[in-house]
Amino acid sequence: MAKRWLAGLLVLLGFWGIFGDIDPAWAYEYRQRHDPDGIGKFFLGREIAHYMGHLGAGWLERSPREREERPNLLLDALNLLPTDSVVDLGAGTGYFSRRLAQRLPQGRVLAVDIQPEMLEILQDLAAEQQITNIQPILGSENDPHLPSHSVDVVLMVDAYHEFAYPQEMIQAIAQSLKPGGRAVLVEYRGENIWLPIKKLHKMTLNQLRREWESQGFHERTTLELLPDQHITIFQL
Ligand SMILES: C[S@@+](CC[C@H](N)C(=O)[O-])C[C@H]1O[C@@H](n2cnc3c(N)ncnc32)[C@H](O)[C@@H]1O
Repeated sequence: MAKRWLAGLLVLLGFWGIFGDIDPAWAYEYRQRHDPDGIGKFFLGREIAHYMGHLGAGWLERSPREREERPNLLLDALNLLPTDSVVDLGAGTGYFSRRLAQRLPQGRVLAVDIQPEMLEILQDLAAEQQITNIQPILGSENDPHLPSHSVDVVLMVDAYHEFAYPQEMIQAIAQSLKPGGRAVLVEYRGENIWLPIKKLHKMTLNQLRREWESQGFHERTTLELLPDQHITIFQL
């Protein structure tokens, strides 16, 4: 009996050794029954949300947003240098790209989105304000098309929970950062069940940590400065 147990254990260990950390697709799980706001694909237990279509552009540019989300408080907390190179990943209409660009007179913003319509709006709004240091980049769902080892900060505001390939995106972010670079996630607090935001469009700190730490990042700090969102900063 003991011999059988031992043999079973050895087979299991062998299986784990061969396949344990090889196939990244194993991190994903697909379920038939799921939240209608999600795509039915789960990363480490979290269902990924449908991304916001470009018809939601008006909502991103709504005037009460300044009062509701306090974007300047967030950007002040990042302590950016005027020469920094910053990625606005999941930039949408460029609400944050434009505010970043004004803080980086000798630097630049790489504004990435997967929807060409969003990038068109982003470029029109930036041109209206005569902003010239935003470079729009059309990413794909699993690759933001960023240059290697060349950015100081990758900022993701209300975007990461929509990434259909979070694991691949985190790895691409790791590739794009300079040594000491920061990945900054701003997500509505999933711990607050009273917050009137759809469940899949919020994230808990525990889940954020689980996902980013699984890909080799560590949490540098979490700032609770904003009314409804966490600011979590990860580094390699
Ligand atoms: C809710 S909007 C937020 C836009 C902007 N960050 C803001 O706060 O105003 C999320 C954006 O992320 C984009 N997005 C979703 N998945 C993406 C991916 N894999 N790569 C880049 N952008 C993505 C969507 O197209 C959408 O424009």
